Amino acid sequence: MSWKPGDRREGISSMVRVDQAGEYGATRIYAGQLAVMGDRTPMARMIAGMASQEERHRAFFDAMIARRGVRPTALQPFWDVAGFALGAVTAAIGPEAAMACTAAIETEIDLHYQQQLEELGAGDPELSEAVAKFREEELEHRDTALEHGAEQAPAYPLLSGLIRTGCRAAIALSKRI
Ligand SMILES: [Fe+2]
Ligand SMILES: [Fe+2]
Repeated sequence: MSWKPGDRREGISSMVRVDQAGEYGATRIYAGQLAVMGDRTPMARMIAGMASQEERHRAFFDAMIARRGVRPTALQPFWDVAGFALGAVTAAIGPEAAMACTAAIETEIDLHYQQQLEELGAGDPELSEAVAKFREEELEHRDTALEHGAEQAPAYPLLSGLIRTGCRAAIALSKRI
């Protein structure tokens, strides 16, 4: 297949679309966790701190989507419910499961952002700069979750594997739909 002039731009639109979807999903996961955990425990306060970073990531991609005229994912209403449910269910299992959820998601997001940075190269400095900065914060979230007992969650390998698979599917879907 030969290269067409619109290919690269569609590639970048799809990156902005999936990133906005992902950051939106992250805010919904934390909202679900906090709805179950309340806001008084130290862990809830720590989650609220990560959630506020996700709000910043999301606001950045919301603005970029609007400014660049990128079509947002049609799956937003689904990520709204699925993200919140994932957060609420993991928090209901227990604090370690809530942390396992964050560790699993951020492990996949790290790989996703890494891959985007490679694909972008020097092609879109505004986007790569944001992705690089957000990626560092996602890695901090992953490490925080691991430091707070993620791996002690019940059925950790299964739980983590399921969430990582779901996250990869969400990424694949939100690139296109
Ligand atoms: Fe984020
Ligand atoms: Fe994050």
